[in-house]
Amino acid sequence: MPSTLPAGSPAPADGRLPTDVLAELAARPFGVYVHVPFCTVRCGYCDFNTYTASELGTAPGASRADYADAVRRELDLAADVLGSPPPVSSVFFGGGTPTLLPPADLTGIVAAVADRWGLAPDAEVTSEANPDSVDAESLAALRAGGINRISFGMQSAEPEVLATLDRTHDPARVPAVVAAARAAGFDQVSLDLIYGTPGETLEQWRRSIEAALAMEPDHVSAYALVVEPGTALERRVRRGELPAPDDDDLADKYALADELLGRAGYAWYEISNWARRPEARCRHNRLYWTGGHWWGFGPGAHSHVGGVRWWNVKHPAAYAARLAAGDSPAHARETLGVETRRLERVLLESRLSDGLELGVLDAAGQQALPDLVADGLVEPPRDRLVLTRRGRLLADAVVRALVP
Ligand SMILES: C[S@@+](CC[C@H](N)C(=O)[O-])C[C@H]1O[C@@H](n2cnc3c(N)ncnc32)[C@H](O)[C@@H]1O
Ligand code: SF4
Repeated sequence: MPSTLPAGSPAPADGRLPTDVLAELAARPFGVYVHVPFCTVRCGYCDFNTYTASELGTAPGASRADYADAVRRELDLAADVLGSPPPVSSVFFGGGTPTLLPPADLTGIVAAVADRWGLAPDAEVTSEANPDSVDAESLAALRAGGINRISFGMQSAEPEVLATLDRTHDPARVPAVVAAARAAGFDQVSLDLIYGTPGETLEQWRRSIEAALAMEPDHVSAYALVVEPGTALERRVRRGELPAPDDDDLADKYALADELLGRAGYAWYEISNWARRPEARCRHNRLYWTGGHWWGFGPGAHSHVGGVRWWNVKHPAAYAARLAAGDSPAHARETLGVETRRLERVLLESRLSDGLELGVLDAAGQQALPDLVADGLVEPPRDRLVLTRRGRLLADAVVRALVP
């Protein structure tokens, strides 16, 4: 069970992490996630921890201008807790919209991370970016400051679909910023797409994939639209203004994406992610899926080190206030038991093309395998369990069969 930390707790695990937990740090990659909780408008489908300027108002300490300083304070605290972890293998700025901050704030945080812990020589340093929040100049500044991978929230090439999603960018802006990113020296460019938006036809989805492929990204993520509770989209669906996403339509759209991306030379490596070359797989996300360690900075950010997981207070003002008082922003933590860690491995690693080591399955899971293979959900066993395309469509059911 998660335990809530008292407001004055100096750090996760009351200032320390047990030595056996810290000892695990050396065994797997260590990454840094920085959550940037600001957006110009809130998209109706999104329930991420992000705030528009009017939602934040004049809450003390929560301004964009003060944000990088607050993150640097958390970095000081993390350095005290972790001591000398191995050099950081990946940094990921996610949001929200990280690129609403001046580039110098983001690159200053990269420099501070490098200063405290060192960056591995081949470290992957990603920022998410909304297409209308960057230009040639800001992209050049991000690249010059050490960010070497950029992930654009394209979502769709169709104006109608973008409008339903409340996305503000002109679809023509995406090829322009991809070209600007290339000109700035980004070798790793990723595009995020969403399928299953109410009213989106299969033909519109095909055109979005083709438009993405025409930009020759190194990496593509395609997510099924989830109608999250409490969002404006959910209210519109509930009122009958928009139809709910349909499972068969989502399955057809996933199959089309996998087909077109595969034909263009992009191989899936996680259910929702495709890469043009093995080196273009997102190393930071792989760390989440393969039991790596990471410290998540920022309001609401989650961290994991050696089976201990903790997360920060959610509101940017509360986050800033904790740090300004010299306190940890951690809100709660939990220690994962051996069985929980095994279940998480099944859940996450079965979604990867590298697959799940069969030895992780218990007797019930091993017994379920022959039926899953006979049903065409799992490739015939080698030493790892790998989902077929049909299995990827029914991944939740496969996991339920493996961990009944
Ligand atoms: C939270 S956003 C942050 C980056 C940036 N602000 C953007 O929108 O691209 C990261 C990705 O999550 C996707 N996302 C957010 N809510 C979603 C939902 N309900 N269903 C599917 N994808 C979602 C976004 O569209 C985006 O591609
Ligand atoms: S821009 Fe991205 S993070 Fe912001 S509300 Fe939209 S989907 Fe969410």
